[in-house]
Amino acid sequence: MRIAVIPGDGIGGEVVPAVLPALELLGDHFGLGLSYRIFDWGAERWLAERVGLPPDALDLLASDYPAILLGALGDPRIPDMAHGRDILLGLRRGLDLYVNYRPFTPRGGDRTIALFRENTQGLYAGVGGTVSHGRHPAVAIDECVYTRETVEKFLRYCLRTLSESGRERVTLVHKSNAVPHTGRLWQGVFRAELAGFPGLVGSEEYVDSFCYHLVRDPSPYEGIVASNLFGDIVSDIGAALMGGLGLAASASVCPETGCALFEPVHGSAPDIAGRGIANPYAAATAVALMLDHLGHPRAAAPLRRALAAAARTDSATPDLGGHGTTGTFMADVMKRLE
Ligand code: NAI
Ligand code: MG
Repeated sequence: MRIAVIPGDGIGGEVVPAVLPALELLGDHFGLGLSYRIFDWGAERWLAERVGLPPDALDLLASDYPAILLGALGDPRIPDMAHGRDILLGLRRGLDLYVNYRPFTPRGGDRTIALFRENTQGLYAGVGGTVSHGRHPAVAIDECVYTRETVEKFLRYCLRTLSESGRERVTLVHKSNAVPHTGRLWQGVFRAELAGFPGLVGSEEYVDSFCYHLVRDPSPYEGIVASNLFGDIVSDIGAALMGGLGLAASASVCPETGCALFEPVHGSAPDIAGRGIANPYAAATAVALMLDHLGHPRAAAPLRRALAAAARTDSATPDLGGHGTTGTFMADVMKRLE
């Protein structure tokens, strides 16, 4: 089982190397036959060679690496994030990773809410343009584009996964009163696909009122499905409900090929990069999601337990209220795993 590791920029280059020993330890203990290769794609390479995602990268990943572990992309020297878009959107679109899975466990609760975001179309489809009069754009258009095919395969995968995980409720987040064309397409497909899962009860909520209810009381929600923009925004609320960006991770999956990318939700955090205090919890959770996806939930479970236990000690990083560093936290986690 070969894993492509892309630490990326800023704290990505700190948290990803910090969690690899845990992956190695679990791989050895459970006999998973894991190996990984580190790729240097990111800001340095972009600034030196203007190379983001190298031309042969997609073929190489698609044929040899069923799983990708990514840190974060983003560098103050590249203010327009050109390299980040090239690499991240290149991977998402090029490998057709149309399902983004972002589980979150609200603080104080013990249940994990499964949030699924469509990852390739909608307002992020890249359809639009500007009309300029003089030096500045006078008209700017971004189109929200959805194909029935993508909505169908996305929702079918989400509903099957929710149903297999024993969940009974699923909420479609939409805004079909104000964004009617894609909104109604989503509602129609949602209702039709739900018919195939008699164990699931569906509900539909407008995204604004949904956010209000989620923040006030997340406990009624079990599964959430959303289009690209709404899912992006709601998932950051999910991270906040967990207790911070340093904790949340996501998986981007193409169910047909099995290809998948795992990453912490946070970015490269230039404000704390280089100080050794980045929280590696989210990156380690990305590893746990990866082990689940590769069919080894037995290896993911002890990692999640060790992370939760270490997070309650003083070895935890300052964002969790501890006095520790990236290194002391992972040393604590490793001791528990050993
Ligand atoms: P950010 O997530 O990097 O940081 C937001 C705040 O949370 C900062 O104060 C940071 O110090 C803190 N934080 C984030 N992760 C942390 C961790 N593991 N431990 C402790 N504190 C942590 O978001 P920001 O500042 O908006 O973006 C910084 C750069 O990252 C930008 O270039 C942005 O475009 C990029 N970015 C990349 C993402 C990705 O690669 N998937 C996602 C989000 C942002
Ligand atoms: Mg986001």
